[in-house]
Amino acid sequence: MKRTDLKRLAIDGGHPVRTKPLPPYFPGAMVMGAAEKKAVLSVIDAKSPFRYYGPHLLGKVQKFEGAFTGYLGIRYALGVTSGTAALRVAIEALGIGPGDEVIVPAVTFVASPNAVLCARAVPVFADVDDTMSIDPDAVERLITSRTKAIMSVPILGVGPKMDRLRRLSAKSGIPLLEDVAQSCGASFRGKQLGAFGRISTFSLQLNKIITAGEGGVVVTADPVLYERAVRYHDQGQLRGAHLAILGKTRVAPFAGENYRMTELTAAIAAAQLRKLPSILRRMRAARSRVEKATKGMQNLHLRPSHDHEGDAGSSVSFLLDREKDAQWFVSAINAENISAFRLYDGVASYMNPQISGKDVASTVKCPYECPLYTAKVDYHEGLCPNAESLMRRSVCMGLPPVLTAVDTADIIKGIRKVYGALYEK
Ligand SMILES: Cc1ncc(COP(=O)(O)O)c(C=O)c1O
Repeated sequence: MKRTDLKRLAIDGGHPVRTKPLPPYFPGAMVMGAAEKKAVLSVIDAKSPFRYYGPHLLGKVQKFEGAFTGYLGIRYALGVTSGTAALRVAIEALGIGPGDEVIVPAVTFVASPNAVLCARAVPVFADVDDTMSIDPDAVERLITSRTKAIMSVPILGVGPKMDRLRRLSAKSGIPLLEDVAQSCGASFRGKQLGAFGRISTFSLQLNKIITAGEGGVVVTADPVLYERAVRYHDQGQLRGAHLAILGKTRVAPFAGENYRMTELTAAIAAAQLRKLPSILRRMRAARSRVEKATKGMQNLHLRPSHDHEGDAGSSVSFLLDREKDAQWFVSAINAENISAFRLYDGVASYMNPQISGKDVASTVKCPYECPLYTAKVDYHEGLCPNAESLMRRSVCMGLPPVLTAVDTADIIKGIRKVYGALYEK
């Protein structure tokens, strides 16, 4: 092959950096194996996939919850069916409902505002800082007498300024709710994300750092919030297993739903949790190689971080100066078989149609037309300009823990090739 063929971009008909795609971004799933298999089979052999009773109950959910509290250094953990379920349960545990507002970052998956809306409360969007995390100054400006929680969402393993958010929460008396769905294992100044919130949530969906396909966890240090979460996730009931953990009940029964985790989910999740330190180590090592190799590229600005060491390392993201360049960069590098994307395709959370359209499933349009809600919100382009600009100019790459040295070298080659074509012509 001629040298010019190697330099010519794949989108222009050149030879791609890789003939085959990289391993997909399913961090936990890519390291699934014998341990998960054995754990699942043990549940089936015991014929006891339900968490509270069965012919030979193994207590997998309870053991997973215990391991999770140990990992995070927080008192209570509750396994649920998904990250969205965890958010729903946490919001209900906080007693949030019609007439209330929750401050949500403009950069997040639509599940975060959806969970607020499904509690008939109103998401109010705060702009982000240059790390693409919720900006505490923007939060402070949005606080009203209606604000009942501040949601912090670390995106792709990189978290907000947790010390400022914690102080703001303490000063205002408004609880911090951490949605750590994407960033299990990330920390801020040595403390795990999820341990800062009054109540926090995790997801175990397939794209997450540890996974059971679906699943979620709610964590808190507060016995009342834990009991409320337990009750909401299980039809208002407080069963013996939880009562034993709590010592006594502090909450009268109230109507709830069913978001109970199965023993099968917990069996897989527990095996994954044991692998979390090695998953993090491998992802961080790949990230550090890519960052080192791209340091001198002046037009490729590394997404900043408030605690680089504490980031999960599950992604490496760059910011270009112009939206058009980021769009082109992503198409060109994908053609090289190196997967990259603009964060949420450049769409701020409030511009998802289910949010911007201000619609809900019921015919009565609560919370927007609820008599208890006395303010008016509007979701439109330009609402959070920093978020919109950063997302549109972003080039993000997921880094699963199974990347080989060759895979990482190919990522670097791909970046160099596309960067060269864009900026060094
Ligand atoms: C920030 C954020 N919150 C919540 C969720 C919802 O999690 P799940 O898909 O497990 O319901 C996700 C994941 O998709 C997410 O990225």
